[in-house]
Amino acid sequence: MIQKRRYSSPSLSPSYSFSSHLLFGIIDTYLLLRMFFIIFGIVWTKIFFSGIYSIIIYILLIFIFIIIIGEYLILNSGADGNVYSYSKYAIKVFKKQHISKKECEILRILLKDKENHNLVPHIYCLFSSMLFSFILMERYKSDLLDYLNKNFRILNYNKKIYLLQTICMKIEELHKFGIAHRDIKPENILINNTCDNIEIRICDFAHAVIPSYSNEFYLDKIGTRQFNAPEITNNKYYNPYISDIYSLGCMFYVVFAYKMDFTRNDIIEYCDLKKEKGYNIWSLIQNMIHDNPLERPTIKYVIEYLKKC
Ligand SMILES: Nc1ncnc2c1ncn2[C@@H]1O[C@H](COP(=O)(O)OP(=O)(O)O)[C@@H](O)[C@H]1O
Ligand SMILES: [Mg+2]
Repeated sequence: MIQKRRYSSPSLSPSYSFSSHLLFGIIDTYLLLRMFFIIFGIVWTKIFFSGIYSIIIYILLIFIFIIIIGEYLILNSGADGNVYSYSKYAIKVFKKQHISKKECEILRILLKDKENHNLVPHIYCLFSSMLFSFILMERYKSDLLDYLNKNFRILNYNKKIYLLQTICMKIEELHKFGIAHRDIKPENILINNTCDNIEIRICDFAHAVIPSYSNEFYLDKIGTRQFNAPEITNNKYYNPYISDIYSLGCMFYVVFAYKMDFTRNDIIEYCDLKKEKGYNIWSLIQNMIHDNPLERPTIKYVIEYLKKC
């Protein structure tokens, strides 16, 4: 099982150890103790305080209680925001203001076109202000990483190919609309699955861009280190649509090899071992992670190729 870091940084690959579990165990125990003191505190204030002081103390205690409940409702924590969930709703509260503005802006542009509504989870409210910002959206059952953790054993080759094809079609639509995601990875793909249907949505547009023309180049280093194309890692100018193909290739590897800790060489070696003659997913992955961006296939080609695998 690949475990997620609760508080991850985009530049770190997930690494999970006994100590991190222990740490979160300690944090949880600490929160429980805090809850106990709050209940104890309410009884205590009832006895010893009256009037304005008790009101202030009650407000303070409620505030602390909300913080604790917030910790327990947390669904996932990424580098840019915490996502809390309640019933069928998920709410992303941003940690950094400049990121939130960018993500909200991209989502607003994306959602102007009704045809794009099936690319992202249904959004009920987008709020961004000087002080804090949030996105209230439909909650999806899991992201791709959780989905793999739960279903890897029962996912056969054909199901994996179908899953990747569906994801690629969403990315193709996104690219056609003019948006490059720049942080494609399993945690940013949301899945709702029933026994005979699978619904895919893309999330986390914090690093996305809308290039003014298809050949515009970028230099800023963003995304997640392991999924970043060599041109990004090596501080070269890069085309964001083409670097998305590299990240997709890495994601294909994760779906088949079920490993989150990898280097580009690991992928190449793994595919070399598995490679067969004719159309096969392994050659496709190797092409997608080609170190020369111009040698990588287009998203359209990837979809067509997957149909033959
Ligand atoms: N609508 C949603 N439904 C269910 N889970 C979600 C939803 N949105 C985000 N998540 C979960 O929260 C995590 C962090 O959200 P994300 O938007 O990727 O924030 P960050 O920029 O911090 O990575 C995701 O990896 C995903 O697991
Ligand atoms: Mg994310």
